[in-house]
Amino acid sequence: MKFFVDTADLDEIKDLASTGMLDGVTTNPSLIKKAGKEFIPLIEDICKIIDGPVSAEVASTDYETMLKEGKKLAKIADNIAVKVPLTEAGLKVCKELSDAGTMVNVTLCFSASQAILAAKAGATFISPFVGRLDDLSQDGLQLISDICRIYENFPDFHTQVLVASIRNALHIVESAKMGAHVATIPPAVIRQLYHHPLTDKGLAAFVDDWAKTGQSIL
Ligand code: E4P
Repeated sequence: MKFFVDTADLDEIKDLASTGMLDGVTTNPSLIKKAGKEFIPLIEDICKIIDGPVSAEVASTDYETMLKEGKKLAKIADNIAVKVPLTEAGLKVCKELSDAGTMVNVTLCFSASQAILAAKAGATFISPFVGRLDDLSQDGLQLISDICRIYENFPDFHTQVLVASIRNALHIVESAKMGAHVATIPPAVIRQLYHHPLTDKGLAAFVDDWAKTGQSIL
């Protein structure tokens, strides 16, 4: 499973990239607002840090303007994935950009039928939002399971399932079991993945016992 980080915070991206386990970045207009920086230069900076796909989202909702924005964003770097909303116009833009060889991430997916349409439009990534469905007492992970199963049935679908709106480690583990290709994860949740109280307890005991041996490896 590939890990993308769901942030536009350059310091967080640099820090997480230093682990060697970061495969890409996703941003959206809300994350750009939170970062408080100018959009295009910020995306350029992110693309210099990360070799994998960097999602940059269009801001318009009509076909013509979205297409122009998508083409402009695609020119920023070879690793840009243009992010478009799952609307009729968004999928038309997706088809046009993907036919031209641009990676496209179709966002705001909340149903399996939408995911089928995105695959038919040639999306590189489909982003189903698990957390926002869970927030409404709907089963976000069931949607991931459904999409993975449907895509497996059709070898001519090449769209990768990018699990978005992740809130916790269970969302990641369960999605991995289902075979989802990518998880885009907030920085704090990536850091939570390392922790287990038995690891802390066991390590403290080993450190303590080693000190009592009076030895040194170096
Ligand atoms: C990712 O591309 C999405 O924009 C993001 O995961 C949404 O997450 P949220 O529901 O926490 O805003």
